[in-house]
Amino acid sequence: MAQERLDKILASQGIGSRKEVGQMIRRGRVTVDGKPVCRPESKADPEENEISLDGKPVIVKKYLYIMMNKPAGVLSASRDNRAPTVLDLLPPELRRAGLFPAGRLDKDTTGLLIITDDGDMAHRMLSPKKHVYKLYEARLDTPANEEDVQAFAAGIPLKDFVCLPARLELPQEENKSIVRVEVREGKFHQVKRMFAARGKNVIELRRLRMGKLWLDSNLQPGKAREMTQEEVALIFS
Ligand code: URA
Repeated sequence: MAQERLDKILASQGIGSRKEVGQMIRRGRVTVDGKPVCRPESKADPEENEISLDGKPVIVKKYLYIMMNKPAGVLSASRDNRAPTVLDLLPPELRRAGLFPAGRLDKDTTGLLIITDDGDMAHRMLSPKKHVYKLYEARLDTPANEEDVQAFAAGIPLKDFVCLPARLELPQEENKSIVRVEVREGKFHQVKRMFAARGKNVIELRRLRMGKLWLDSNLQPGKAREMTQEEVALIFS
């Protein structure tokens, strides 16, 4: 990290708004390498300098990676005036400027959602060229069959494009209405449209895995937690 304004660094860590952290600095609550700094515009480099608030070192993280178990009824957007968004569900300690959901899920889709402020990582995760497969579980109104498996593998033609090959897995059970599908694209309503092209409606859709990263089964719907570096790496391994 290069030198940046102290108020910007502290606000980026979710400690408070620019105005709030500015007040903390003016009141002498912040030190850089042990010396009080009272001007919010003073510069520091978090990799070189130790920044403390009320005597406690602030661990500055360049980016934040959050796993959420998205519930139904919430938009995968940063802000919306009409409906709650996934960012509204974040607990105060995980809120900070610049966060966005990396890869949208429909309002009624549930499951694994990653929220970050790392635009490069989001791009790598979502680009079909990077081959990060996303695994969904779909409940269908009509059972799937072997022909559907073949059609998904060949690439389903939709009105505006032909989907990249996708892996459809039928369950062992008699009832083939709950299936798993892996895709590496993320176009609007893609999984639902792929099944619709086969004459089947998706009644419920849940994302279970991205790359090798599974949704944490201890995370209740609507809950979110910070991810470890190992978990971030699993997405790409
Ligand atoms: N495909 C869909 O149709 N919806 C989603 O939310 C995700 C993938």
